[in-house]
Amino acid sequence: MRFDTVIRNGTVVTASDTFVSDIGIKDGRIAALALGLTEADEIIDATGLFVLPGGIDSHVHLDQPSGDGIVMADDFASGTRSAAIGGNSTVLAFCMQEKGQSLREALKVYHEKAEGKCHVDVSFHLVITDPTAEVLGQELPALVEDGYTSLKVFMTYEGLRLRDDEILATLDTARRTGALVMVHCENEDAIRYLIGRHEEEGKFAPKYHATTRPIAAEREATHRALSLAEIVDVPIVIVHVSNREAMEEIRRARQRGQKIAGETCPQYLMLTADDLDLEGLDGAKFVCSPPPRDKASQDACWEGIEQGVFDLFSSDHCPFRFDDPEGKLNEKGKRHFRWIPNGIPGVATRLPILFSEGVMKGRIDINRFVAMTSTNHAKLYGMYPQKGTIAIGSDADIALWDPERRVTLTNELLQHGADYTPYEGLELRGWPVRLLVRGQTITEGHKLRSSEPSGRYQTRQRSKLVAAHPRS
Ligand code: URP
Ligand code: ZN
Ligand code: ZN
Ligand code: ZN
Repeated sequence: MRFDTVIRNGTVVTASDTFVSDIGIKDGRIAALALGLTEADEIIDATGLFVLPGGIDSHVHLDQPSGDGIVMADDFASGTRSAAIGGNSTVLAFCMQEKGQSLREALKVYHEKAEGKCHVDVSFHLVITDPTAEVLGQELPALVEDGYTSLKVFMTYEGLRLRDDEILATLDTARRTGALVMVHCENEDAIRYLIGRHEEEGKFAPKYHATTRPIAAEREATHRALSLAEIVDVPIVIVHVSNREAMEEIRRARQRGQKIAGETCPQYLMLTADDLDLEGLDGAKFVCSPPPRDKASQDACWEGIEQGVFDLFSSDHCPFRFDDPEGKLNEKGKRHFRWIPNGIPGVATRLPILFSEGVMKGRIDINRFVAMTSTNHAKLYGMYPQKGTIAIGSDADIALWDPERRVTLTNELLQHGADYTPYEGLELRGWPVRLLVRGQTITEGHKLRSSEPSGRYQTRQRSKLVAAHPRS
């Protein structure tokens, strides 16, 4: 057989195996795994490189409005460009339902935002902010059938949060339809109470974002979300877990027999609340929710990665510009931390950080790296085995990693829309030196090969986590 492309002599890594092989690519798919493949239009020499499934980042915010005229720093063009630079071949972004809006209307808006702009493949989770009888009874079941098989609900943020009865109703629809629900767990009422006390005491600096969102507020909400899921009898994903106590809630729910997926993010390994207390107002650059905690929480999150409490390592990329009057440090945010938009950039740094800090430092093996950054995302969000692995018939979404490449992170390198990275100056070992999406080279070195976007929208099956679970 003559291939379009052959990747020669690399060390191929999946979530379970590591082996030296050539990869033959035909029509965007992997057509052969063997040694000695030579007949191809293009030969890529991968000697000395790891050949991994492209990263899948299943938690990315792009081009979402944040109220108050605040604008996100990445649209689908710049956000997916940065994703590609960081070795990702697919991102799952959020489609935000506005209050009073139907899900179909919301999807129309987000498909228009993404259409023709993406450099990697994309798919949408639906954020449910207005779970009316019509939305849950009619729209959502039809949309799950159409391949929109995952949702996110918020227990925090004024205007976004759902009450417990609304979460139960949403979980119930998920159970009936086979959708997978991601839950943002923080107790909004406790946070509001603490913000009130901080205001009485005249505490308005960025660092108080962390003290008004304590571990107990995350642990309590995590416990509550897990209890609500148990009552409905439906699997859920606990997203962006920041500390040991929330992890222990997940462990206990699993011991009770619940099917739960857990996610953590680079910020909970690499940052602490002290970063919010930098000179001037620079701490605002690190404001995200849940907030980064302390060294003990970082160690706990590493333990969760090593021991399998976490299935997913995602970026929660949510970029704002620091120099923008309608960005991270707007006039209101300068006066009071509660108006600093939540979220930090990270779609390009997620994989290199876990590769360097996790694999190269011997905390996890490279198969676990692949599982946590690609394979599990594909399985949990209904894209496996089309995506998330290197196997015959799978999309040729492939990242070539040079484990010896040393990189000092700079904002410029990342090619996102934000004007800073929380990881400026961080020294890393290992970098994705080439990315293919469906067989086509998207990045080489630290550059996009073409400015022409060729990403596609990916419809999805039901999650592996719900597939084996009783519906009705
Ligand atoms: O601070 C964060 N994480 N912002 C993004 C929205 C979310 O909660 O995931
Ligand atoms: Zn969240
Ligand atoms: Zn508990
Ligand atoms: Zn998020």
